[in-house]
Order: sequence, then structure tokens, then C-alpha cells
Amino acid sequence: MYNPYELDHKTPSRKDFIDTTEFDQSEILDMVKVSTTVRDFIKEGGTLATLYHKNLAMIFEQKSTRTRVSFEVAMEQLGGHALNLAPGAIQLGAHETIADTARVLSRMCDMIMARVDRHASVVELAETSTVPVINGMSDYNHPTQELGDIITIFDHLPADKPLDKVKVVFVGDCTQVCASLMMITTKMGMDFVQYAPPAKWLSDDFLKIGRANNQRYGGSVHVSDNPAVLEGADFIYTDVWYGLYDKETPKDVYMREFYPKYQVNDELLAATGNPNAKFMHCLPASRNEEVTDSVLDGPNSVAWDQAENRLTAQRGLVLYFGGVAQEALDEIKGQKEELNA
Ligand code: CP
Repeated sequence: MYNPYELDHKTPSRKDFIDTTEFDQSEILDMVKVSTTVRDFIKEGGTLATLYHKNLAMIFEQKSTRTRVSFEVAMEQLGGHALNLAPGAIQLGAHETIADTARVLSRMCDMIMARVDRHASVVELAETSTVPVINGMSDYNHPTQELGDIITIFDHLPADKPLDKVKVVFVGDCTQVCASLMMITTKMGMDFVQYAPPAKWLSDDFLKIGRANNQRYGGSVHVSDNPAVLEGADFIYTDVWYGLYDKETPKDVYMREFYPKYQVNDELLAATGNPNAKFMHCLPASRNEEVTDSVLDGPNSVAWDQAENRLTAQRGLVLYFGGVAQEALDEIKGQKEELNA
């Protein structure tokens, strides 16, 4: 029976959260569990100070709204503090190497979160630091988004549908968010499809990860430009048609590639044949490019729940990789028992 206060993995199997492929399904489910149990407790008015006096250094090589705010609020809500080390604000990239930055931050802070231009940078930070490093997005993947997204999918699962019957269709470019969604949904044994022009399909290296997950956990992974793949989708997900790492693509080029076939609009949503299909977007959205206002603001959209679940996930991640997730769950259980005594 599901016990919201008991983790199978009391401490993380790895120091850092760089790539979900490094964790098995049960450990990801533990991260989901601590995230959602703490969320529910805080929503009921509960308070926790498990990270009292703990500091999270947040390195940003790019802009961020959701990642920055969610980590900062998560640390504050758990009794700790987050330092926003914005582009140009620290020596990294100018007079100091990544490795030296990692050594210094490890002496002053308890955890590091980094959003980087190149995946190799966050890997090097993790290898050099002595404290946990969380990948806040690279040009390869976006694992903190993955955790928030799988929480959102679990929150909105069709009733009585087993995970291996849940179909998630990503519409559009093979961004790192697309790759991440594929990695987490296949890890949960779901059916994942990317619907996109062939030139924008996920690479074979990514598809290999998905197929390995299929072998271990069930489900399937496909890429297609045939709109028939939309049929039966439980979740339709999209991201901008030009990623943060692809800023130089002129608008007329990406519009030609994707518009109108791959725009998530009312017709595309109807093509699922599922009136309850949910719409997801990692945000920020380019309204009326990859998604219309009518879908993003419509009744099937769970994009705002999804944004809120970035905070849900970050609380879970800082507790889990801070090594105190079970302690937080014990505290919640104890407080609830006291209230009910
Ligand atoms: N989805 C996401 O990572 O948003 P930000 O770029 O605003 O952090």
C-alpha cells in the first residue's frame, strides 16, 4: 500500500541530479513522493524548517522565471536561503573556471543549482564540487522540468488507466524539453510520441534511451509526421519552435517548418479524439505560434498547474539531494499525528 511518509531510498544513490537516466524508476518515484507529500502539507498550512540555515547557490548563464523563482521560494519555505548568481554577477566565465567556482561554492554553500549553456559545464561543476549539484537546464536536458512534468501528469492521469496505456504526444521541435519528456514518460512505462517534421525528430541516441526504458518498464517510443499519431493522446505537450539554444533561427524559417501543421490549436486537440486530453507547455510560450490562446487558456490546459509544480518538484529535489527527505516526511507525519491526537 502507498505510504506517503516512507521512502524506499532514504538517501540519493548519486550526489547530483544531472540526468534522470542515472536513476531508476523507484528512485524517481521517491522524488515524486517527497515532492507531493510536502506540497500537500504546505497547502494545508503546514510549515517545515528542514533546510534551516542551508544555502543553495543558483548559477544562471541564461534568463529564467520559473526555475529561478521556484528554487528560491522552495528554499525559503523550507527554512533555507537561495543566492541568485545571475549572468555577469560572478566571476564564472570571465576570470574564473567552472572547477574553481565549484570548489569555492562548495566551501560556502550546501547545494548548487546551475542553468548552463553547455551540458559539459554542469557535469564539470558536479564532478568538481563536493556538494550536490542540480541541473537547472542545459542544451541536453531539463531534469527539474521532468520531475515537475511527471508530477503534473500523475495529478491529471485518466481515471483507472494503467501507466502503460497512457499516451503522451509531444508536438514540435526536438528541444531539450522534448528529450526530457521522452526520458521521464518512458521511465514511467508510458507511450511517448514526438509528432514533428522528420528534420526535427529526436536523435537516435535519445531514442535508444527511450527504447531501453521500454524494455525495462514497458510503454513505447515513436517519432512521426503523420497526424494519425495524435489519436488517443491523453496529454499533448509543446514547447517553443526555437529553443533558448537556437535563438538565431529567423522566425520565417521556423514558421515555415512548423506552421500551421504543428500548431497546437483547437483542431489539433480535437484530432486526439479525446475530449479530456490535457494540454501541457513548459513555458514561456510564444502565443499563437506553437499554441493558440484558445488552447493555452482553454479548459484542457494544465500548463499553469504544471508551472506551479516546478515549485512542488524543487522542494522535493532540495530535500532529497540535501539528504533530508526522509527527515522531512517523518516531521510531517509526526506533526499530523500530534494534531490528530
Ligand atoms: N520552463 C522553464 O524552465 O522556465 P524558465 O526558463 O522561466 O525557468
